[in-house]
Amino acid sequence: MKKIKVLSSSVGYDLAAKDYDKKESYLNSFETDKLLPLLGDLDGKKVLDVGAGTGRLTLKLAKAGAEVVALDVSEEMLKRIMNYESRIKVVIGDAEDLPFPNESFDFVTAAFLVVHLKDLERFFDEVYRVLKPNGKFLVTNINQKEPPEVNTKEGIIKIESYYHRPEKVVEELEKLAFNIEKEEFVKENEVWINQIILASK
Ligand SMILES: C[S@@+](CC[C@H](N)C(=O)[O-])C[C@H]1O[C@@H](n2cnc3c(N)ncnc32)[C@H](O)[C@@H]1O
Repeated sequence: MKKIKVLSSSVGYDLAAKDYDKKESYLNSFETDKLLPLLGDLDGKKVLDVGAGTGRLTLKLAKAGAEVVALDVSEEMLKRIMNYESRIKVVIGDAEDLPFPNESFDFVTAAFLVVHLKDLERFFDEVYRVLKPNGKFLVTNINQKEPPEVNTKEGIIKIESYYHRPEKVVEELEKLAFNIEKEEFVKENEVWINQIILASK
């Protein structure tokens, strides 16, 4: 049996970008429209969407009136946002080393990102730093124990992924002084498929 290559997010998502949007409705089904209502009024708010990808969540935030910065390690993923939305500021960068001053954002969002991060503490610490006082952090954690196979023009690949237990995610946030405001689970046949957390600074 041929071994499937496991690639870093920047290399893997550059290859996967072309077909990523075909999965949009599948990804939406893990959220069931729960995210935006948790944030409330977004009009004029400064929002950082980390691991923004092709803008699935970024665009909804912008449509709701937010001033959005979309950050991702994969330039190919971000190119798709640049192509259809010029009002969104796009930044190539790493979630664990955010290139923004302290207390810059009202909200930080991260949908389907933490599954690609080995060390949650580094990312959460950076989110805490860039949030304004009382700012809010909306993070989702997909229940994915094994990275899925992705078909690309260079063959089938997998993208480096890490499973995070829901209790561990809450624990890491609380360790950094975040307050957990809400925690919801989207379930399928009684099994959780996505953990959605709203935390505040
Ligand atoms: C599953 S996609 C999610 C995209 C988008 N948030 C969504 O919900 O459709 C994960 C994204 O996280 C990005 N990513 C992975 N590791 C990252 C890191 N360390 N810093 C910034 N972005 C990262 C990937 O390049 C990819 O675009």
